[in-house]
Amino acid sequence: MHLGVNIDHIATLRQARLTTYPCPIQAAKDCLEAGADGITAHLREDRRHIQDKDMENLAAMAQAGELHLNMEMAATDEMVAIACKLKPQAVCLVPESREELTTEGGLDVAGHIERMIDVVARLNDAGCAVSMFIDPDKAQIDASKNIQAAVIELHTGHYANFNGDKQLSELKSIQEAARYADKIGLIVHAGHGLTLDNTKPMVDIKEIMGLNIGHAIVADAVFVGLKQATADFKTLMKR
Ligand code: PXP
Repeated sequence: MHLGVNIDHIATLRQARLTTYPCPIQAAKDCLEAGADGITAHLREDRRHIQDKDMENLAAMAQAGELHLNMEMAATDEMVAIACKLKPQAVCLVPESREELTTEGGLDVAGHIERMIDVVARLNDAGCAVSMFIDPDKAQIDASKNIQAAVIELHTGHYANFNGDKQLSELKSIQEAARYADKIGLIVHAGHGLTLDNTKPMVDIKEIMGLNIGHAIVADAVFVGLKQATADFKTLMKR
């Protein structure tokens, strides 16, 4: 199972003081050394954490075969142009709004079919494997398949925030969505809000091939260090 470590919050810490440290590139190297299979980074329109130069440096490492880079981005012309220039191996399209603390829900692919066909085609032509970050919803899965995305990333944020019966019901939706998407030929990933305490049920869903995890790893790293925090998730994800 592929672990993509999202290093946005290494950059959040750096941007809080506009220093040159901590360095996201060094963080990426440490995560890979500790067993991460890839690095995810989100270049936001407001540049609140990852900066253009960070993405360029990560992409250069990706081009050199040193890492698998998953660039998270909104489906805007600005971001599509950057991705087509940098050619990361993977691009994950996410919804974005300026006011949000973090990505708040899945992308409405079904509601923006024409736009998504165009964006995905441009990214596919640049050689990027395109992933749609969606809620566990059949209409969104079908739409993702129809617009020629290769991958979906199921949004686990609600599952992570709920507890009790609501959490179980959301888990069931994720299980069913993963099974259905796999059956129609999509590669299934999942992510958002995952911690050492709530990740195991995702590992048990055999159709889920990869998880993208950021905030919890960086938070754990405060106490155990980044390499140990990465390794702890990797151990939990062994099937
Ligand atoms: N996947 C996607 C599409 C995301 O937007 C994020 C947050 O940037 C993550 C995974 C990682 O979420 P978290 O930081 O809560 O682990």
